[in-house]
This record gives sequence, C-alpha cells and structure tokens, in this order.
Amino acid sequence: MSFSDTRSNATPPEHRRAIRSFVLREGRLTAAQERAFNELWPRFGVDWRPGASLDLATLFGNDRPVVLEIGFGNGESLAEMAERDPERNWLGIEVHRPGVGHLLLEIERRGLTNLRVMRHDAVEVLRAGIEPGALDAVQLFFPDPWPKKRHHKRRILSPELVGLLARVIRPGGIFHAATDWAHYAEQMLEVLDGAADLFENAAGAGAYAPRPANRPLTKFEQRGERLGHPVADLIYRRL
Ligand SMILES: C[S@@+](CC[C@H](N)C(=O)[O-])C[C@H]1O[C@@H](n2cnc3c(N)ncnc32)[C@H](O)[C@@H]1O
Repeated sequence: MSFSDTRSNATPPEHRRAIRSFVLREGRLTAAQERAFNELWPRFGVDWRPGASLDLATLFGNDRPVVLEIGFGNGESLAEMAERDPERNWLGIEVHRPGVGHLLLEIERRGLTNLRVMRHDAVEVLRAGIEPGALDAVQLFFPDPWPKKRHHKRRILSPELVGLLARVIRPGGIFHAATDWAHYAEQMLEVLDGAADLFENAAGAGAYAPRPANRPLTKFEQRGERLGHPVADLIYRRL
C-alpha cells in the first residue's frame, strides 16, 4: 500500500465529503412527473455542469430581472409568484426529483414562460454558475431546519452562503428568507445582521420583517402552521 493510500484511509469520512444541506431521497415519480421530465424538461429545465456560467438572458430569451428561489419544494408557491409577476424571470433550484417534476407540471398548467427549473445543489450553482450581480433577488423559504444540534452545520444559511449571495445579488437587490423554526430564525438574524457591510436589514437591525403580501403560503409553512409554529420573515437589501 502506498503512502497516499494509507493517508486517505486515515481521513475520517466527514472530512472527505462536503457537508450538504440535504440528504437526497429519490422518491418515486408519478406517471405525470415522468412525462414532465420527458416532455417539459427540454423546454423549462436547465442542464448545468459545474464550471459553466449560466447565460440568464439566453436562458429566458430576454434580459428582464431574475429572481432565484433555493429549495422550492413542490414549487407551487414559486409558480404562483412567477405567474403574478410576469415582468421578472424566475429560476428555481431544487434537488428533490419529484418536486422538480411537480413544478414542471405547474409551469405547463399555468402556461408560464418566465420560469425555469434546475435540479442541483443550489450552493454549488451559487458558487460557480452565476455571474456577479446577475440576480435581482434570491428567496429561501422554509429551508430544512436540521433541529438537532449536531446537524446545525447542515443548515444552508451560513456566513458562507451570505458571502455567495452578496456576490450574485445586484446592489439594491433583495434576499428574502422565511422560517418557522425559532432557533433557525435567530441564527439567520445573527448571521445576516452580522454581514452589515454587505446587506441592510429592511426591517431595521435586529428585527424580523412583517410578512410580505407577495409571499404565498408554502407547503412547509402550512405544515408548520398546523403545529402552531410562528413564522419569521427576514428581508435584506444588498448594499
Ligand atoms: C423544508 S423544504 C421547504 C420547501 C419549500 N420551500 C416550502 O416551503 O414548501 C426544503 C427544501 O429545500 C431543498 N434543498 C435543501 N438543500 C438544498 C440545496 N442545497 N439546493 C437545492 N435544494 C435544496 C430540499 O430538497 C427541500 O425540498
């Protein structure tokens, strides 16, 4: 055995793999979702390979402002927002295949032309796929809360993510997050207010924003509501 083999075997697995904000559960596709991948993905899906930079104007066929949603779940609230705001382009990134299939079907059902879908780790796309200042806004609604302390490192909203967001959101553009986990809300507020050289808290330092009228109720929010979880919105403007 060579020296390098010995060394790699001695490296604990957690230092070899990136810590991700999701665990991929494949889940079964419905017949309709299968059809969506075959027929709708070529039109509304975005194939991206690490290293390539997305040309958003070519992707949408125009240079309107682009809103990115990270982790859209089943995509219904994203489709609703895109339908209500046709003056902007909307790009959703989600890793869960059935959710992506569901959103493709929503795009078809609503006849949307201003929404595109990616199936990828959004953190990787933010790191390497988007030009500086290319986005008008980024939204992150009800990210996986990873409630156990030993899993907090998997929470997607971190100082690293805030740095990535600052690179891709144009000056004056918006980052909007929402969560129904009180501890995660506090952490979000601390991390975002801590980046005061990059983002200004629209509600004033240390404050949550009132729920904006344009945010539809999401699937996970409804679940939280049934459990009696209060919701915190956090809205920040890129300086
Ligand atoms: C708790 S769900 C919330 C879904 C939706 N926003 C809602 O409110 O109904 C979080 C979603 O984020 C997705 N997700 C987690 N990390 C992600 C990442 N790095 N890139 C893309 N999607 C991610 C998960 O697959 C999951 O569908």
